[in-house]
Amino acid sequence: MKDSYKIVGDLAKFYDAMLTNSTLLGNLALKIFWGLNSADYQKFLAQAFAGLPKNFNGRLIEVPVGTGALSLPIYKNFDGAEIFCVDFSEKMLAAAKIRSEKLNLRGVKFFQGDVANLPFEENFFDLVLSINGFHAFAEKNAAWTEIHRVLKFGGIFCGCMYVTGENRRTDFFIENFCEPRGFFCPPYETFETLEKKLREKFSRAQISLVKSFAGFVCTK
Ligand SMILES: C[S@@+](CC[C@H](N)C(=O)[O-])C[C@H]1O[C@@H](n2cnc3c(N)ncnc32)[C@H](O)[C@@H]1O
Repeated sequence: MKDSYKIVGDLAKFYDAMLTNSTLLGNLALKIFWGLNSADYQKFLAQAFAGLPKNFNGRLIEVPVGTGALSLPIYKNFDGAEIFCVDFSEKMLAAAKIRSEKLNLRGVKFFQGDVANLPFEENFFDLVLSINGFHAFAEKNAAWTEIHRVLKFGGIFCGCMYVTGENRRTDFFIENFCEPRGFFCPPYETFETLEKKLREKFSRAQISLVKSFAGFVCTK
């Protein structure tokens, strides 16, 4: 998995263009592979970050941060927050660090690490953000345990992930392109299994769907 995302790190420009819907090719890839038109894309963004309070100033962990294309610009608004960005891949982290420097972000630290073994105390964070992470994690049970462990009681777990069974073309693309390259790692949640899991693990859970992306805002 670390090596898989080394390639993505090298192709960071294309990856970011798709993620941010900022070029014609990125826009086309979103439409063809993810079934997202521009309006859907805006909904996807809104649901992915729905759990972030305005002017957040507590302690936040983002895992995995990837290149930080979507999240780092938001951290500009979080004066006073302490932000820990974690990813397995050094290449992805390197791209995120460059972006952070360009944005002149303060209070953001980067860590190379595994979500399945987070080097933080329990109940340490006010908020855990996970954008497009769980479909990539290999040790999913350990990831759930760790994310829950480091989150304070009353803290927020939010973000988004791919769910299977919503769009046949997306599922085909994932099985035949993303999985063989190690970008995605089965098994995947369906919308229903994810909803059940979040309601079991958290005291409150709101879940939404835009095409094959489920968004969630949960309270421990
Ligand atoms: C699809 S990318 C999403 C990254 C970012 N949140 C985004 O939306 O751009 C998946 C990321 O998960 C990271 N990753 C995969 N397994 C991981 C693990 N066990 N611990 C930490 N990061 C991991 C990869 O290195 C990659 O950067």
